[in-house]
Amino acid sequence: MNSATNRKREYLTKKVTAVAHANIALIKYWGKRSRPENLPAVGSISLALEALKTETTFQFVPGLEDDRCILDGKEMNDQQKGKVSDFLDILAGTSGRMKARVVSRNNFPTAAGLASSSSGFAALTKAAAYALQIEDNPVLLSKFARRGSGSAARSIPGGFSEMKIGSDMSGKKDFAVQLYDENYWDIRVLIALVSTDPKETGSTEGMIRTARTSPYFDSWVRASNNDLAEMREALKTKNFSRMGELAEYSCMKMHGLMMSSRPPLLYWNPVTLEMIQLIWSLRRQGLPIYFTIDAGPQVKVLCRPDHIQEVRKNLQSINGISTIIESKPGPDAYIKDVTNS
Ligand code: PMV
Repeated sequence: MNSATNRKREYLTKKVTAVAHANIALIKYWGKRSRPENLPAVGSISLALEALKTETTFQFVPGLEDDRCILDGKEMNDQQKGKVSDFLDILAGTSGRMKARVVSRNNFPTAAGLASSSSGFAALTKAAAYALQIEDNPVLLSKFARRGSGSAARSIPGGFSEMKIGSDMSGKKDFAVQLYDENYWDIRVLIALVSTDPKETGSTEGMIRTARTSPYFDSWVRASNNDLAEMREALKTKNFSRMGELAEYSCMKMHGLMMSSRPPLLYWNPVTLEMIQLIWSLRRQGLPIYFTIDAGPQVKVLCRPDHIQEVRKNLQSINGISTIIESKPGPDAYIKDVTNS
């Protein structure tokens, strides 16, 4: 055995723990250019959330017959495990790779529209890429993470990130870059949990349905560059009301697109709508707060640190909110620990 192979063996069996933070899009991604490479139809801009994270411990295990994947203390179901195994084949460049043990834990409810796939696939990318000795290059890792989930590409750089899209189908230019780190701007996100049930229609299925059936899909794609440019400017100038107004606009436009699909996609429930109306009413009374919502019923309120208590107090008046999680901007994905066994 030559020394390169020796080195690879040694790395392959190390136990690697990585952490990645979930992110919310301020300018939304919805729709794919190509499914196999998972290429987005539009670029997006996001904010990583310090309070929502996934920690994944990864290890290649010689002699293991199949991947073992544990999420929040339970064996993953076949669909979840299939996604992880397919993703590891992509990362290793072969389905004939050594099988692995993956133990992942979210500090928030999985698959309830809190972007667990973003932190999940970013943490898995970071840990498994280390074990495979793939170069620790954020652009490269973001492209890999994209193959697991489009939003995961943005959790690799963290902070305030932009997902860029290429003009061809190679995927070479489809990756996220950090615009600003987590200390750039102290804004806060209050996440109101209104339901922790897993969503009925996953984002991939939803995006495909929308692109095929919504009469508004083409104009959504056409307007994207303009929305991205406006958000870049709002972030650059730290213009909170401009940023919030744009985030809300992009969110409502995406949900309108979902609702105009056939059959329609509606991720909200009555509490979601009650929250939207409360936020608008508080804004009319002078409180500068805005919201964004992903493919689920959870409403995320964007506010400044000094308005947190007031927003919390008002949200508590709504029946049906079980928990409120407060978050600052979060960092990029990182390796937390590497051990030999
Ligand atoms: O990365 P996915 O496939 O989970 O899609 C994410 C889609 C939204 O969360 C609704 C929007 C976004 O840009 O994150």
